[in-house]
Amino acid sequence: VDKEDYPVQTVEETDVLLPRRPRDAHKGDFGKCAIVGGSVGYTGAPTLSARAAVRSGAGLVWVGVPAPVWPVAAAKLDEAMPFPLPAGKEGQLSLEAGELIRHKLSGYEVCLIGPGLGRGNGVASVVRHLLGEIHIPVILDADGINALEGHMDVLDGRQGLHTVLTPHDGEFARLGGDLSGGDRLGEARRFAREHGCCLVLKGHRTITAFPDGRAYINTTGNPGMAKGGSGDVLAGIILALLGQGLPARQAVPYAVWLHGAAGDRCAAEVGEYGMTPTDLVATLPAVLEAHV
Ligand code: APR
Ligand code: MG
Repeated sequence: VDKEDYPVQTVEETDVLLPRRPRDAHKGDFGKCAIVGGSVGYTGAPTLSARAAVRSGAGLVWVGVPAPVWPVAAAKLDEAMPFPLPAGKEGQLSLEAGELIRHKLSGYEVCLIGPGLGRGNGVASVVRHLLGEIHIPVILDADGINALEGHMDVLDGRQGLHTVLTPHDGEFARLGGDLSGGDRLGEARRFAREHGCCLVLKGHRTITAFPDGRAYINTTGNPGMAKGGSGDVLAGIILALLGQGLPARQAVPYAVWLHGAAGDRCAAEVGEYGMTPTDLVATLPAVLEAHV
Protein backbone atom coordinates (compact mmCIF):
# COMPACT_ATOMS: atom_id res chain seq x y z
CA VAL A 1 0.00 0.00 0.00
CA ASP A 2 1.36 3.39 -0.91
CA LYS A 3 1.73 5.42 2.25
CA GLU A 4 -0.29 8.24 0.68
CA ASP A 5 -3.22 5.89 0.94
CA TYR A 6 -3.49 6.18 4.70
CA PRO A 7 -6.95 7.65 5.21
CA VAL A 8 -6.99 11.21 6.43
CA GLN A 9 -8.74 11.35 9.77
CA THR A 10 -10.62 14.26 11.21
CA VAL A 11 -9.96 14.54 14.94
CA GLU A 12 -13.28 14.56 16.80
CA GLU A 13 -14.15 15.08 20.46
CA THR A 14 -14.37 11.35 21.18
CA ASP A 15 -10.91 10.64 19.75
CA VAL A 16 -9.08 12.60 22.43
CA LEU A 17 -8.32 10.58 25.55
CA LEU A 18 -5.59 11.45 28.05
CA PRO A 19 -4.18 8.90 30.50
CA ARG A 20 -5.15 9.10 34.16
CA ARG A 21 -2.36 10.22 36.47
CA PRO A 22 -1.38 7.23 38.60
CA ARG A 23 -2.07 7.77 42.33
CA ASP A 24 1.56 7.13 43.25
CA ALA A 25 2.99 9.35 40.52
CA HIS A 26 5.71 11.96 41.01
CA LYS A 27 6.79 14.87 38.83
CA GLY A 28 9.43 12.80 37.08
CA ASP A 29 6.64 10.75 35.54
CA PHE A 30 5.28 13.72 33.64
CA GLY A 31 8.22 14.96 31.68
CA LYS A 32 11.21 17.20 32.08
CA CYS A 33 10.34 19.79 29.45
CA ALA A 34 12.52 22.63 28.19
CA ILE A 35 11.74 25.82 26.30
CA VAL A 36 14.27 28.03 24.53
CA GLY A 37 12.72 31.33 23.48
CA GLY A 38 12.30 35.03 24.05
CA SER A 39 14.25 38.18 23.18
CA VAL A 40 14.01 41.87 23.90
CA GLY A 41 10.79 42.72 22.06
CA TYR A 42 9.23 39.28 22.51
CA THR A 43 8.95 38.57 26.21
CA GLY A 44 5.44 37.12 26.15
CA ALA A 45 5.92 34.23 23.73
CA PRO A 46 8.07 31.92 25.90
CA THR A 47 6.07 32.65 29.04
CA LEU A 48 2.81 31.83 27.26
CA SER A 49 4.31 28.53 26.10
CA ALA A 50 5.57 27.80 29.62
CA ARG A 51 2.22 28.55 31.23
CA ALA A 52 0.44 26.39 28.67
CA ALA A 53 2.84 23.51 29.35
CA VAL A 54 2.34 23.80 33.12
CA ARG A 55 -1.44 23.94 32.64
CA SER A 56 -1.26 20.85 30.43
CA GLY A 57 0.24 18.65 33.11
CA ALA A 58 4.01 18.89 32.50
CA GLY A 59 6.09 17.68 35.44
CA LEU A 60 8.91 20.18 35.16
CA VAL A 61 9.37 23.13 32.80
CA TRP A 62 12.73 24.85 32.26
CA VAL A 63 12.73 28.09 30.27
CA GLY A 64 15.95 29.44 28.81
CA VAL A 65 15.69 33.11 27.78
CA PRO A 66 18.27 35.80 26.91
CA ALA A 67 19.59 37.37 30.12
CA PRO A 68 18.11 40.87 29.48
CA VAL A 69 14.57 39.47 29.53
CA TRP A 70 15.18 36.96 32.30
CA PRO A 71 13.88 39.24 35.12
CA VAL A 72 10.60 39.58 33.25
CA ALA A 73 10.26 35.85 32.69
CA ALA A 74 11.24 35.13 36.28
CA ALA A 75 8.65 37.56 37.62
CA LYS A 76 5.90 35.98 35.52
CA LEU A 77 6.63 32.30 36.04
CA ASP A 78 6.36 30.71 39.46
CA GLU A 79 5.92 27.09 38.44
CA ALA A 80 8.44 27.05 35.59
CA MET A 81 12.19 27.60 35.94
CA PRO A 82 13.40 30.59 33.96
CA PHE A 83 17.15 30.63 33.30
CA PRO A 84 19.26 33.53 31.94
CA LEU A 85 21.26 32.79 28.78
CA PRO A 86 24.07 34.79 27.10
CA ALA A 87 22.71 37.54 24.86
CA GLY A 88 24.10 39.90 22.23
CA LYS A 89 23.39 43.57 21.85
CA GLU A 90 20.07 43.03 20.13
CA GLY A 91 18.81 41.30 23.24
CA GLN A 92 18.73 37.97 21.39
CA LEU A 93 20.62 34.77 22.17
CA SER A 94 24.32 34.98 21.37
CA LEU A 95 26.44 32.16 19.96
CA GLU A 96 27.78 31.15 23.39
CA ALA A 97 24.25 30.27 24.44
CA GLY A 98 24.34 27.11 22.32
CA GLU A 99 26.79 25.08 24.39
CA LEU A 100 25.28 26.25 27.69
CA ILE A 101 21.79 25.20 26.60
CA ARG A 102 23.05 21.82 25.47
CA HIS A 103 24.67 21.32 28.87
CA LYS A 104 21.56 22.46 30.76
CA LEU A 105 19.34 20.13 28.74
CA SER A 106 21.05 16.99 29.90
CA GLY A 107 18.33 14.88 31.53
CA TYR A 108 15.54 16.73 29.73
CA GLU A 109 13.15 14.69 27.63
CA VAL A 110 11.66 17.13 25.15
CA CYS A 111 12.45 20.68 24.05
CA LEU A 112 10.49 23.50 22.43
CA ILE A 113 12.69 25.92 20.51
CA GLY A 114 11.56 29.17 18.99
CA PRO A 115 8.81 31.27 20.59
CA GLY A 116 9.94 34.91 20.47
CA LEU A 117 13.61 34.16 19.73
CA GLY A 118 13.83 36.85 17.05
CA ARG A 119 15.43 36.53 13.65
CA GLY A 120 19.11 37.40 14.07
CA ASN A 121 21.81 35.33 12.37
CA GLY A 122 23.24 34.37 15.76
CA VAL A 123 19.90 33.01 16.88
CA ALA A 124 19.52 30.89 13.75
CA SER A 125 23.01 29.44 14.23
CA VAL A 126 22.25 28.54 17.84
CA VAL A 127 19.03 26.81 16.80
CA ARG A 128 20.75 24.78 14.09
CA HIS A 129 23.60 23.88 16.43
CA LEU A 130 21.12 22.61 19.02
CA LEU A 131 19.23 20.54 16.46
CA GLY A 132 22.42 18.69 15.69
CA GLU A 133 23.44 18.23 19.32
CA ILE A 134 20.34 17.40 21.35
CA HIS A 135 19.10 13.88 20.86
CA ILE A 136 15.60 14.28 22.25
CA PRO A 137 12.31 15.15 20.56
CA VAL A 138 12.19 18.81 19.56
CA ILE A 139 9.29 21.09 18.72
CA LEU A 140 10.23 23.98 16.47
CA ASP A 141 7.91 26.97 16.38
CA ALA A 142 8.11 30.53 15.07
CA ASP A 143 11.76 31.70 14.84
CA GLY A 144 12.90 28.15 15.51
CA ILE A 145 11.27 27.33 12.16
CA ASN A 146 12.64 30.45 10.51
CA ALA A 147 16.17 29.32 11.47
CA LEU A 148 15.81 26.41 9.01
CA GLU A 149 15.31 28.66 5.99
CA GLY A 150 17.92 27.52 3.47
CA HIS A 151 19.17 24.84 5.88
CA MET A 152 16.61 22.06 5.61
CA ASP A 153 19.45 19.54 5.60
CA VAL A 154 19.69 20.04 9.39
CA LEU A 155 16.53 17.95 9.67
CA ASP A 156 18.11 15.03 7.81
CA GLY A 157 20.39 14.37 10.76
CA ARG A 158 17.36 14.02 13.03
CA GLN A 159 15.49 11.29 11.16
CA GLY A 160 14.08 8.84 13.67
CA LEU A 161 14.07 11.42 16.44
CA HIS A 162 10.82 13.25 16.63
CA THR A 163 10.96 16.72 15.21
CA VAL A 164 7.68 18.61 15.21
CA LEU A 165 7.35 21.80 13.16
CA THR A 166 4.38 24.10 13.81
CA PRO A 167 4.37 26.73 11.05
CA HIS A 168 1.64 29.11 10.05
CA ASP A 169 1.36 29.64 6.29
CA GLY A 170 4.10 32.30 6.16
CA GLU A 171 6.59 30.16 8.06
CA PHE A 172 5.69 27.15 5.93
CA ALA A 173 6.37 29.11 2.75
CA ARG A 174 9.77 30.18 4.09
CA LEU A 175 10.73 26.50 4.33
CA GLY A 176 9.66 25.79 0.79
CA GLY A 177 6.05 24.81 1.43
CA ASP A 178 3.97 25.69 -1.63
CA LEU A 179 0.35 26.51 -0.87
CA SER A 180 -0.28 28.30 -4.16
CA GLY A 181 -2.21 25.34 -5.55
CA GLY A 182 -4.57 25.37 -2.57
CA ASP A 183 -3.75 21.77 -1.60
CA ARG A 184 -2.85 22.23 2.08
CA LEU A 185 -3.27 18.58 2.92
CA GLY A 186 -1.17 17.30 0.02
CA GLU A 187 1.58 19.83 0.66
CA ALA A 188 1.67 19.09 4.39
CA ARG A 189 1.99 15.37 3.68
CA ARG A 190 4.64 15.86 1.06
CA PHE A 191 6.67 18.06 3.39
CA ALA A 192 6.41 15.70 6.38
CA ARG A 193 7.51 12.76 4.29
CA GLU A 194 10.31 14.56 2.47
CA HIS A 195 11.84 15.99 5.63
CA GLY A 196 11.07 13.16 8.05
CA CYS A 197 9.27 15.41 10.51
CA CYS A 198 5.82 15.89 11.99
CA LEU A 199 4.29 18.95 10.39
CA VAL A 200 1.52 20.99 12.02
CA LEU A 201 0.23 23.38 9.37
CA LYS A 202 -1.75 25.84 11.46
CA GLY A 203 -4.82 27.92 10.71
CA HIS A 204 -8.51 27.18 10.22
CA ARG A 205 -8.65 23.35 10.21
CA THR A 206 -5.03 22.76 11.19
CA ILE A 207 -3.42 19.76 9.49
CA THR A 208 -1.04 17.41 11.30
CA ALA A 209 1.02 15.20 8.98
CA PHE A 210 3.53 12.46 9.83
CA PRO A 211 6.42 11.11 7.77
CA ASP A 212 4.65 7.77 7.23
CA GLY A 213 1.77 9.47 5.40
CA ARG A 214 -0.73 9.61 8.23
CA ALA A 215 -2.57 12.91 8.44
CA TYR A 216 -5.19 14.48 10.70
CA ILE A 217 -7.50 17.41 10.15
CA ASN A 218 -8.57 19.34 13.24
CA THR A 219 -12.18 20.29 13.87
CA THR A 220 -11.91 22.77 16.77
CA GLY A 221 -10.94 26.43 16.99
CA ASN A 222 -12.29 29.74 15.76
CA PRO A 223 -11.20 33.19 14.54
CA GLY A 224 -11.03 34.46 18.13
CA MET A 225 -7.71 32.60 18.16
CA ALA A 226 -6.32 34.66 15.30
CA LYS A 227 -4.28 36.82 17.68
CA GLY A 228 -0.59 36.99 18.50
CA GLY A 229 0.20 34.48 21.22
CA SER A 230 -2.26 31.70 20.32
CA GLY A 231 0.49 29.79 18.53
CA ASP A 232 2.79 29.99 21.56
CA VAL A 233 0.07 28.37 23.65
CA LEU A 234 -0.26 25.48 21.19
CA ALA A 235 3.49 24.86 21.23
CA GLY A 236 3.41 24.61 25.03
CA ILE A 237 0.57 22.07 24.96
CA ILE A 238 2.41 19.87 22.44
CA LEU A 239 5.53 20.09 24.62
CA ALA A 240 3.64 18.97 27.71
CA LEU A 241 1.85 16.04 26.07
CA LEU A 242 5.05 14.74 24.48
CA GLY A 243 6.80 15.18 27.84
CA GLN A 244 4.13 13.07 29.49
CA GLY A 245 5.02 10.22 27.20
CA LEU A 246 2.11 10.21 24.78
CA PRO A 247 3.32 8.92 21.43
CA ALA A 248 3.69 11.75 18.93
CA ARG A 249 0.90 10.30 16.81
CA GLN A 250 -1.49 11.07 19.69
CA ALA A 251 0.25 13.94 21.47
CA VAL A 252 0.37 16.26 18.48
CA PRO A 253 -3.16 15.93 17.04
CA TYR A 254 -4.60 15.82 20.58
CA ALA A 255 -2.77 19.03 21.51
CA VAL A 256 -4.11 20.73 18.39
CA TRP A 257 -7.64 19.59 19.21
CA LEU A 258 -7.45 20.62 22.89
CA HIS A 259 -6.02 24.03 21.96
CA GLY A 260 -8.95 24.63 19.61
CA ALA A 261 -11.43 23.30 22.16
CA ALA A 262 -10.06 25.77 24.72
CA GLY A 263 -10.56 28.44 22.06
CA ASP A 264 -14.15 27.39 21.51
CA ARG A 265 -14.85 27.50 25.24
CA CYS A 266 -13.35 31.00 25.41
CA ALA A 267 -15.45 32.09 22.43
CA ALA A 268 -18.57 30.93 24.26
CA GLU A 269 -17.60 32.52 27.57
CA VAL A 270 -15.68 35.65 26.56
CA GLY A 271 -16.42 36.11 22.86
CA GLU A 272 -14.22 35.94 19.79
CA TYR A 273 -13.38 39.64 19.88
CA GLY A 274 -12.11 39.90 23.43
CA MET A 275 -10.72 36.44 24.18
CA THR A 276 -6.95 36.28 24.62
CA PRO A 277 -4.24 33.60 24.50
CA THR A 278 -4.01 33.98 28.29
CA ASP A 279 -7.71 33.04 28.41
CA LEU A 280 -6.85 29.91 26.41
CA VAL A 281 -4.32 28.92 29.05
CA ALA A 282 -6.80 29.56 31.86
CA THR A 283 -9.39 27.37 30.13
CA LEU A 284 -7.05 24.45 29.44
CA PRO A 285 -7.54 22.68 32.80
CA ALA A 286 -11.29 22.25 32.30
CA VAL A 287 -10.84 21.13 28.70
CA LEU A 288 -8.20 18.57 29.61
CA GLU A 289 -10.17 17.29 32.60
CA ALA A 290 -13.09 16.47 30.29
CA HIS A 291 -10.82 14.14 28.31
CA VAL A 292 -9.16 12.02 30.97
N1 APR B 1 -9.63 29.12 13.18
C1 APR B 1 -9.05 28.24 14.00
N2 APR B 1 -7.82 28.41 14.55
C2 APR B 1 -7.17 29.55 14.27
C3 APR B 1 -7.71 30.53 13.44
C4 APR B 1 -9.02 30.29 12.87
N3 APR B 1 -9.61 31.18 12.06
N4 APR B 1 -6.82 31.55 13.35
C5 APR B 1 -5.76 31.20 14.10
N5 APR B 1 -5.96 29.99 14.66
C6 APR B 1 -5.00 29.24 15.49
C7 APR B 1 -3.99 28.59 14.59
O1 APR B 1 -4.41 27.31 14.17
C8 APR B 1 -2.77 28.53 15.49
O2 APR B 1 -2.84 27.42 16.34
O3 APR B 1 -4.27 30.13 16.33
C9 APR B 1 -2.89 29.82 16.30
C10 APR B 1 -2.11 30.98 15.69
O4 APR B 1 -0.74 30.67 15.71
P1 APR B 1 0.33 31.57 14.92
O5 APR B 1 -0.15 31.82 13.53
O6 APR B 1 1.65 30.95 15.13
O7 APR B 1 0.27 32.98 15.65
P2 APR B 1 1.12 33.47 16.89
O8 APR B 1 2.48 32.90 16.88
O9 APR B 1 0.36 33.32 18.12
O10 APR B 1 1.21 35.01 16.57
C11 APR B 1 2.44 35.69 16.37
O11 APR B 1 2.68 36.65 14.18
O12 APR B 1 3.94 37.94 12.75
C12 APR B 1 3.59 36.64 13.12
O13 APR B 1 5.26 35.09 12.59
C13 APR B 1 4.81 35.94 13.63
O14 APR B 1 4.50 33.78 14.68
C14 APR B 1 4.34 35.18 14.84
C15 APR B 1 2.89 35.51 14.92
MG1 MG C 1 3.49 31.61 15.85
